[in-house]
Amino acid sequence: MANEDKFKKVISHAKEYGFIFSSSEIYEGLNAVYDYAQNGVELKNNIREYWWRSMVYMNQNIVGIDAAILMHPTTWKASGHVDAFNDPLIDNKDSKKRYRADVLIEEYCEKLNKKTQKEIDKAQKRFGDDFDEEKFVSTNTRVLKYKSQQKEILKRLARSLEAEDLADLKTLIEELEIADPETGSKNWSEVRQFNLMFGTKLGATAESTTDLYLRPETAQGIFVNFSNIQKTGRMKIPFGIAQSGKAFRNEIVARQFIFRMREFEQMEMQFFVRPGEEMKWYEYWKETRLKWHLSLELGKENFRFHEHENLAHYANAATDIEFNYPFGFKELEGIHSRTDFDLKAHEKYSGKKLQFFDPELNKSYVPYVVETSIGLDRMFLAIFCNSLKNEILKDGSSRVVLRLPAILAPTKAAILPLVKKDGLPEIAQEIVTDLQWDYNIKYDDKDAIGRRYRRQDAVGTPFCITIDHQTKEDQSVTIRYRDTMKQERIAISEISEKIKNSISYRAWLE
Ligand code: GAP
Repeated sequence: MANEDKFKKVISHAKEYGFIFSSSEIYEGLNAVYDYAQNGVELKNNIREYWWRSMVYMNQNIVGIDAAILMHPTTWKASGHVDAFNDPLIDNKDSKKRYRADVLIEEYCEKLNKKTQKEIDKAQKRFGDDFDEEKFVSTNTRVLKYKSQQKEILKRLARSLEAEDLADLKTLIEELEIADPETGSKNWSEVRQFNLMFGTKLGATAESTTDLYLRPETAQGIFVNFSNIQKTGRMKIPFGIAQSGKAFRNEIVARQFIFRMREFEQMEMQFFVRPGEEMKWYEYWKETRLKWHLSLELGKENFRFHEHENLAHYANAATDIEFNYPFGFKELEGIHSRTDFDLKAHEKYSGKKLQFFDPELNKSYVPYVVETSIGLDRMFLAIFCNSLKNEILKDGSSRVVLRLPAILAPTKAAILPLVKKDGLPEIAQEIVTDLQWDYNIKYDDKDAIGRRYRRQDAVGTPFCITIDHQTKEDQSVTIRYRDTMKQERIAISEISEKIKNSISYRAWLE
């Protein structure tokens, strides 16, 4: 299936099977805002739980918090978001479409990347087993040309962004002859800065209102609580504070379904370290986070690191963990070395000390911070895209199956009486009543058993338990496995253990 078709299938499957709907759909929806439905919310909660346990429960020096979305307005002055949380936007005068100037340039570089890969693939075919990719990449003139072009462009982009040289961004777009991706027009406006924060108001009367922002990242709720948590938790450096919650950005171009939204969720962890030790911890968290992703078995080849050329205003090193979405490799998680920028800025604006007394060094200092920041919705999308399969079976028929990691599946088991009579539904209900204490279980007695299996495959349920006439005689049931479709007979008393083994955090995370 072509990638574009695959992505369309992902979006329609998410809607058809109760995972994601457009927000306020009866009013034609709200651009780039989505609601998680009955199955979507379960999957999302399970992803969050998987992250939380790995961060907070598995690290004795990391604690979690849940800070408010609304924060004192000075927070955003101190963090630099009021002055610097901007995207450079450009309008196409013919199509009236709006784009991020930096993204247009990055997409041009991605095309050069694709051309390079094409050359490599061609040579690979030609030379077969004798192909030496490293040598080819370092000697082939076309590949060298693409690579050096790309390097030059990204360097210039970084320089212009750093210096806020918006005129040069436009010049670069014109020099590269970048056209509107949708219409091909090259009639561009000037580039302008656009602040991404949503403003709102606190207070009931016109005279007493205060201008606030909806938080554009959860991280600042952690920074402003640094001292409270360090003292009440008796935390010693290095230590971390984790948080998951909503963030809001008025994205210029919000598209690709839940990949870029205006209201989304982040799972962030700020790790406070001794100044000078930040690069060691930066490398540690890069490796640890990649391992976490790989533990979910989404395929090693679907992940890669992308070191940043142009750094955010607070960072001295930054890398993305990118995932291979149907629309290409894109950022899923950011690992940033944020220096002491945030704590120092909050010290300056609040007048309060945000320091740590290090008994080993016998001195106080403002800690440095390494953060890991992952979009919960982007993780959802990565898992959903990767799990959705259209399979042709041995008998020539096909099935749509969502091969979700069992630990994340919305429903762990479906309990299905073979027929709606002879006391089978009653036995099935008894099993549900027992299992639902521990797991999300669904009862279904509508339609033929084959159709019920397919319905459960489509929402990713790892086990189907069928109650038939033999159950009445020997207390046994049929368990059907989603991935292999194999069936076996087990005792009712064994069901819980089967489910438990498939969703053990120890087994998945280890
Ligand atoms: N505190 C650092 C920070 O916010 P970021 O790279 O701007 O860094 C972190 O965002 C993560 O949040 C991204 O890697 C991405 O997964 C997610 N994210 C950012 N903007 C998003 C959006 N508009 N929609 C969905 N997820 C988004």
